[in-house]
Amino acid sequence: MYANFYGLKTLPFNITSNPGFFFESTSHKEALSCLLYGISSKTGLMLITGEVGTGKTTLCKTLVSKLPPEVKTSFILNPCFSDVQLLCAIIEDFGLNLFKKNRLEIIKKLNGFLVDINSKGGNAVLIVDEAQNLNARQLEQIRLLSNLETSQEKLLQIILVGQPELKAKLDQFNLRQIRQRICVKHDILPLAETEVRDYIEFRLKLAGEPNIEILPESYNLIYEFSKGVPRLINALCDRALLYGFVKEKKVFDCEIFKACMEELK
Ligand SMILES: Nc1ncnc2c1ncn2[C@@H]1O[C@H](COP(=O)(O)OP(=O)(O)OP(=O)(O)O)[C@@H](O)[C@H]1O
Ligand SMILES: [Mg+2]
Repeated sequence: MYANFYGLKTLPFNITSNPGFFFESTSHKEALSCLLYGISSKTGLMLITGEVGTGKTTLCKTLVSKLPPEVKTSFILNPCFSDVQLLCAIIEDFGLNLFKKNRLEIIKKLNGFLVDINSKGGNAVLIVDEAQNLNARQLEQIRLLSNLETSQEKLLQIILVGQPELKAKLDQFNLRQIRQRICVKHDILPLAETEVRDYIEFRLKLAGEPNIEILPESYNLIYEFSKGVPRLINALCDRALLYGFVKEKKVFDCEIFKACMEELK
């Protein structure tokens, strides 16, 4: 709605996780490199954790967009099903059809698919987002999937992605078997204070290089409010743009951000 006023092609601080807007902060860049390395070396299980709104889903979508076509992916965004339903969802997201939905058939089908891909020099990646919601049975099922291997390498690369509770969950004694198999781990951190300005400018530029000026002292406030969490930065900046539109302002100072912070509290 305010896009025209600022000369924007799209909304710069949209809260959807769009890989086209992926900003390579130090932590996001490291996470992406770890995952690309883990996938190409066929390590098996990987773990990505991070606080709410730090960019885990955006990172996964960016990863999928960067993988070459011979790497097949199955991306489970919200694994709130039973363990068999989870298996079905995995298979279906790989693009396979199931005639019988029992565990044995599903595993046979998946194994055949993975062996075939592997023999053609490809690879397969399963990403489970919101994995902090998986129960012990589902995690055990995932551990069993990580057993699918040749004598040299894993047939399925599995990335578990979740909020910090996921780490706490995996620390439970009964889950030590899956915990021990995790080869790549990365904790996504919020943006550093020095990255906040670059992040905002990056998103504005991608959205169409609008005629907007954010006064430098505002960035301290934005950091203080958001602690570098991208979703909170987006919420505040989106609110500020709306505020500017209503008041017909294109220069943003601390007063505007303070007023928006009050509204968002
Ligand atoms: N590296 C990044 N580059 C650009 N935008 C980002 C980045 N990280 C996060 N964002 C933005 O922040 C918002 C939240 O990101 P995302 O949904 O990926 O977080 P999340 O960690 O998956 O959150 P949750 O824990 O609630 O699932 C999105 O609007 C997304 O566009
Ligand atoms: Mg998410």
